[in-house]
Amino acid sequence: MLHDFTYYNPTKIYFGKDSMQNLSAELANYGKNILLLYGKNSIKKIGLYDEVVKTLNACGKNITELSGIKPNPAYSQVLEGARLVRENKIDLILAVGGGSVIDCAKAISVSAYAKGDPWQRYWIDFEEVDNEIVPVGTILTMTGTASEMNGGSVITNEEVTIKTGRVYGPEVYPKFAILNPEFTYTVPQKQMVSGVFDVMSHLMEQYFSGDDDNTTDYVIEAVMKSIINSSRKAAKNPEDYEARSNIMWCATLGLNTITGLSKTQDWEVHNIEHQLGAYTDCPHGLGLAVISMPYYRYIYKDGIDKFVRFAENVWNVNTDGKTKDEIALEGIASLENFAKELGIPLTLRELGATEDMLPKIAETSYEGGGYKYMTHEDILNVLKECF
Ligand code: NZQ
Ligand code: ZN
Repeated sequence: MLHDFTYYNPTKIYFGKDSMQNLSAELANYGKNILLLYGKNSIKKIGLYDEVVKTLNACGKNITELSGIKPNPAYSQVLEGARLVRENKIDLILAVGGGSVIDCAKAISVSAYAKGDPWQRYWIDFEEVDNEIVPVGTILTMTGTASEMNGGSVITNEEVTIKTGRVYGPEVYPKFAILNPEFTYTVPQKQMVSGVFDVMSHLMEQYFSGDDDNTTDYVIEAVMKSIINSSRKAAKNPEDYEARSNIMWCATLGLNTITGLSKTQDWEVHNIEHQLGAYTDCPHGLGLAVISMPYYRYIYKDGIDKFVRFAENVWNVNTDGKTKDEIALEGIASLENFAKELGIPLTLRELGATEDMLPKIAETSYEGGGYKYMTHEDILNVLKECF
């Protein structure tokens, strides 16, 4: 059943090889002062930085730059960006990069004119934003998070070792997003597979909960099948446009609210991973991969029919003469084999975690879940399995 919903996603998407041609027209909608936000040096290496600066200059914009946005963006960088917005009367934040740069842009956007401490008010107390929101536009270079078309902003506050996400309303979504799959050709294999597993994880966390007959579950299965197929191809040939374009759009669909419509959801794997990230600074998708299989083996009995459906519909598991348990576990094993095939490490040790971190990560992760309510003790049990 589809429960009542209102659907609104205001992000305008320009997709394809020529999508950059739309930048000038978009820039015309905003004032002169642009904050250009990007990561370390990937956009310079691929020539995108020069192209963006040329376009901004041609449109008569004043450019203020903030570079070096870290993967797992830091709150100190948010505050630095907020200061630059105020000092330079910024009209548009242009985020060029992956999820980290876009998340940081949204965080700067809501924090620049916040009254009081934005971390406490917006990421801890989840207060409504009651101040001016600076518009964000984006050019995507790394796929996975869907930050280009949602209100998510995941920030790490290094002072308190907390990495936490906030999903803001449509007023904070990027106003426009330029998606050229060719920009992702240079993403290193490790980052690419991290992004792929991030997408799988978003889809699974929206899928594994709620058992009514819901159109969204069928949409999720289709997107999962597409990304599994295309990521196998892109792993062999990073410049396979067909594969890269499918991955890029699967990633956007994975968390642009379409694949979560009218569903109860279980974000426990993400909750645990965010704290893992706060302690280890590991790539987000790799952390999710390590946690997912032990987590799903821990909870599958509480949602067994859905795990059977996952095995059959997504992984084509042959069910002849098998029990539900066997089928469900075979589905999870297929997911694990897929991760191995992509070369994803599957232990916490390989991501730099040490045994003494496990209780701290468990203690600071939120209790909750979907089919099964996960207490701090349950979370610790899963983390021990992952170690
Ligand atoms: O810093 P540079 O030099 O740009 O290098 C980046 C970075 O090291 C590199 N990269 C990006 N585009 C490239 C490239 N390298 C070569 N060629 C290119 N074209 O990739 C590295 C990782 O980038 P990052 O933005 O950190 O990756 P991702 O997109 O996976 O973002 C991860 C962050 O997003 C959060 C995660 O927790 C994490 O902090 N998430 C945001 C969500 C949201 N907004 O809804 C939801 C997600 O579940 C997630 O939590
Ligand atoms: Zn994610």
